[in-house]
Amino acid sequence: MDLKTRLEQLRRENQKRIKDTNDLDALNQIRVNLLGKKGPITEVLRGMKDLKPEERPKVGAYANEIKADLQENLQNRKDALEQAALTAKLATETIDVTLPGDQVVQGTPHIIDQIMDDIEEFFIGQGYQVVDGPEVEEDHYNFEMMNIPKDHPARDMQDTFYIDDQLLMRSQTSPVQARTLEVHDFSKGPLKMISPGRVYRRDTDDATHSHQFNQIEGLVIDKHITMADLKGTLLALAQHVFGKDRQIRLRPSYFPFTEPSVEVDVSCFRCNGKGCAICKYSGWIEVLGAGMVHPNVLTNAGVDADVYGGFAFGLGPDRFAMLKYGIDDIRSFYQGDVRFLSQFKEEG
Ligand code: PHE
Repeated sequence: MDLKTRLEQLRRENQKRIKDTNDLDALNQIRVNLLGKKGPITEVLRGMKDLKPEERPKVGAYANEIKADLQENLQNRKDALEQAALTAKLATETIDVTLPGDQVVQGTPHIIDQIMDDIEEFFIGQGYQVVDGPEVEEDHYNFEMMNIPKDHPARDMQDTFYIDDQLLMRSQTSPVQARTLEVHDFSKGPLKMISPGRVYRRDTDDATHSHQFNQIEGLVIDKHITMADLKGTLLALAQHVFGKDRQIRLRPSYFPFTEPSVEVDVSCFRCNGKGCAICKYSGWIEVLGAGMVHPNVLTNAGVDADVYGGFAFGLGPDRFAMLKYGIDDIRSFYQGDVRFLSQFKEEG
C-alpha cells in the first residue's frame, strides 16, 4: 500500500472511531495513540525517507493535512462530549423555583419578657435606672429593711420559701431597692430606679396563683416628692400599657413599707369604664400597689427621713399580660408550651 492510500485509510478509520466514541477518556486515548511518537501518522512520516525526493513534499503536505483534519475532528468531538456532559448535569440539578420553601420556625421572646421589656423601656425613658438583685436573698433585705420585722403579722402577706434562718427565695423585688438605697449617694442626685425580676411565694399553684412569678417595683427618692408625682407616674404608665384613654384611681390600702399606701385601679380597657366581665362590671381593674415610702425604710438604709422622701410601687407583669391578652391561667406562662407561647409574636 502506498503512503497516500495508507493515510486515506488512517483518516477514514479514525474519523469513524472518533465519531463513535462517547467517552472523554476513550477519546483522549485515541488522540494519544494517533498523534503520539509511536502513532501511525508518525510512522507514515518516517516511511517518507524511502520515497523519491520529488514526491516527499506532496506526501508530507498531505500527511499534515490529514493530521490537522483529524485534530479538528478530535477537538469537535471533545467539545460535543463536554457540552453533552454539562447539559446532562444541569438537567439533574434543576431547581424548581416554584416549589414552596422549607418553613423556618422563628422564635419569639416570652410574652412576659416582652411586657417587662416594654415597661423597662418606659421607665428608662423617664430617667430611671434598672437594677438587678439576687433571687436567693437575705431575710434582712427582703423583710427587716423593708420595715417587716420578725413576727410582724405582715409577714403572712408573703408566704415565703426559707432556705435557713437567714436566707430565703425573695418574695418581692423590694430587697433590691433596699440594697440600692443603702449605697445611693444623694449628693449626686435623686434615686429613680426599677427592679424587675422573678419572685417566689409558697402558694399552691392554680389558675391565679403561681409559686413563681414576676414583679417590677419602682422607687423614687428625693427632696419634695409628693403623692401627685406618684399619681402622675402611674397614670402615664397605665396609659402606656393599657391605652391612652385610661384613667386611674387610688384606693387606701396597707403595706408595711409605705405610708400612706394605695391600691391602684385602671379604668377598664375593654369597656372603657362602662362595666363588663373583665372588670367584673365595676369599670375598674386593680393593677398595682403603691405608696409613699415609710420613714423607717429610709432610716434603715441610713437616709435622713426628715430631708428625703418619695414613692414606691410594685406591679405584676404576669397580671398585666393576663389582663391585656385575656389569659385565664397564670400557669400557662411557666409550662413552656410552644403552642401557647408562639401566639405572642413580637410586634414590629
Ligand atoms: N412588694 C409589694 C408586694 O409584693 C409591692 C409593692 C411595692 C407595694 C411597693 C407598694 C409599694 O406586695
